[in-house]
Amino acid sequence: MTTRRPIIAGNWKMYKTSGEAKSYALAFLERVGGVTEADIVLCAPFTALNVLKEELEESVVHLGAQNMSWAVEGAYTGEVSAAMLQDVACTYVILGHSERRELMHETDEMIAKKVKRALEAGLRPILCVGENLKQREAGEAQVIVQNQLKKDLAGLTEDALKKVVIAYEPIWAIGTGKTASSQDAGEMCTAIRFALAAAGPEAADVIPILYGGSVKAENIADLMARPDIDGALVGGASLDPVGFAALIENALKH
Ligand code: 13P
Repeated sequence: MTTRRPIIAGNWKMYKTSGEAKSYALAFLERVGGVTEADIVLCAPFTALNVLKEELEESVVHLGAQNMSWAVEGAYTGEVSAAMLQDVACTYVILGHSERRELMHETDEMIAKKVKRALEAGLRPILCVGENLKQREAGEAQVIVQNQLKKDLAGLTEDALKKVVIAYEPIWAIGTGKTASSQDAGEMCTAIRFALAAAGPEAADVIPILYGGSVKAENIADLMARPDIDGALVGGASLDPVGFAALIENALKH
């Protein structure tokens, strides 16, 4: 079995101006600048990426966006392309976040096109999957997640699959303070790895699977202790540089 390198990614969502991002970067780097045991990623709003590129250049912190277009370029008002993200030093991009699926009506077909485009361009997609409360209570969580994976990763070669990062984010745990128990989260991440093995057994072994949903400095160690959880996608608790640095420290303790 491969030892997978942990990834701790912050998703700032629609928070922080470029000025706020700059102060964050300074305080954050002071605390995490020496971390070598994990990949640290900040997924910032488009408008903050350029200043983060300048502040974090040659540091251990990687940059990511929260969405992108499936098109290379063209008449797509309001969209941002993979090349534009690379221009501001992004190496990761969150795709298929439940907030985009629910609020912006993104479908699995749209997400699959974005995943494919990100990989063609050399960006690492962080593909988010997860069930809502009704689906969990109906015992459908695993089927829902398996279907999302099947549709969103359709048609990828095994080599391409190896570049994908999966984030399991149960919708009922996002921003609610209700984290999935480490056991439930761990079981789902194992089920995800099992489902990925059907598409590519070698890829399934190397793909990092992150958990997201009310991850905090207090619960990260338990989550990371599960064999199939390789890291976290952190919303609210990534907004404060001191708190996020403490969370990262706890994640790497075990
Ligand atoms: P919270 O950590 O605020 O629950 O958000 C999780 C999330 O959606 C990360 O993408």
